[in-house]
Amino acid sequence: MFQGIDLYSDTMTRPSRAMREAMAAAEVGDEQKGEDPTTLALEARAAALLGLESALFFPSATMANEVALMLHCSHGDELIAAENCHLFFAETGGPAKHAGVQTRMVPTPTGIFDAEAVSQHFNAISGPHFMVSRLISIENTTNLGGGIAWPRTTLAGVVERAKSLGLKLHLDGSRLFNAAVASECEVKSLAAGFDSVTICFSKGLGCPTGAILAFEKSKWDRVRRLKQLMGGAMRQSGMLAAAALYALDHNVERLNEDHENARLLAQGLASVHGVRVENEAPSTNMVFFENRNPKLDDLAFSQACERAGVRFSQVGRSRFRAVTHLDISRSDIEKTLEILAKIGTEA
Ligand SMILES: Cc1ncc(COP(=O)(O)O)c(C=O)c1O
Repeated sequence: MFQGIDLYSDTMTRPSRAMREAMAAAEVGDEQKGEDPTTLALEARAAALLGLESALFFPSATMANEVALMLHCSHGDELIAAENCHLFFAETGGPAKHAGVQTRMVPTPTGIFDAEAVSQHFNAISGPHFMVSRLISIENTTNLGGGIAWPRTTLAGVVERAKSLGLKLHLDGSRLFNAAVASECEVKSLAAGFDSVTICFSKGLGCPTGAILAFEKSKWDRVRRLKQLMGGAMRQSGMLAAAALYALDHNVERLNEDHENARLLAQGLASVHGVRVENEAPSTNMVFFENRNPKLDDLAFSQACERAGVRFSQVGRSRFRAVTHLDISRSDIEKTLEILAKIGTEA
């Protein structure tokens, strides 16, 4: 286990003592039978928060996303989404394997696209030999796109255009609370118009695991069956749901601190020798930068950082990502900047 300042991802958060106490005290039953009271309470709360009628608790956001694709699409249908979204780069080919969809990737380095792009990527030609554009998925915040919270007017435009074209809409809101805090609005307003929404508790919200898929009530039986099909039914999941309920009460507003720490890091990196910051004014909790150190290739750079006590993830050729989260303090960021400055001057 890495012991230093871990900016690898916000998935590195560890449950706090208070969260663990809430987990230990949870009332539990059999989730598969619909008898776990804490899981049921979480599902009801999440559905209300997102403005959808129903919600089910999942072990992970990946599984919730994959079930959403299976819910909306038949084999051979087309899924439209940003080229760099999690569905395409980190779900092991799940959209092809599970939902059997053909993918239409929208070229967009930020992960954001507008209503016009929806029309451009929609297959408007009908005929027995053409595929059917069925679903559009957006990620808010965008992960590899830069941790960006979608501008609300762009989002509303995409939702409206997709609806007018008869597309279903899925929102991968694994970091929707970051987006809501950054946009100073409720998550419900960012989920408006979507047919299904994934939210995740094991990232900035600090839980050990767990996600929610929210959707219309009429789809409950089908989603329940798809979850079972994927091996996602659980037993005494109330202990995990209790962590999520605790996170909703205690860990949402504080995401602002992570965003401030990301801004501090990005501003500091701008004057560090040997790196180039991609997003000097981060929208939420992610900072992307390039290793430009002439004396250290990417592996040597990563190793030098880890030896000095800080870890990032490499997300492309010479491209690194630092993610701030609730186990990272302002002084961790200051220390990180010192470490990088030292590595830069020594090179
Ligand atoms: C945008 C996005 N969607 C989905 C996931 C998958 O989350 P999980 O690890 O809970 O499966 C991630 C994980 O990092 C993510 O960043």
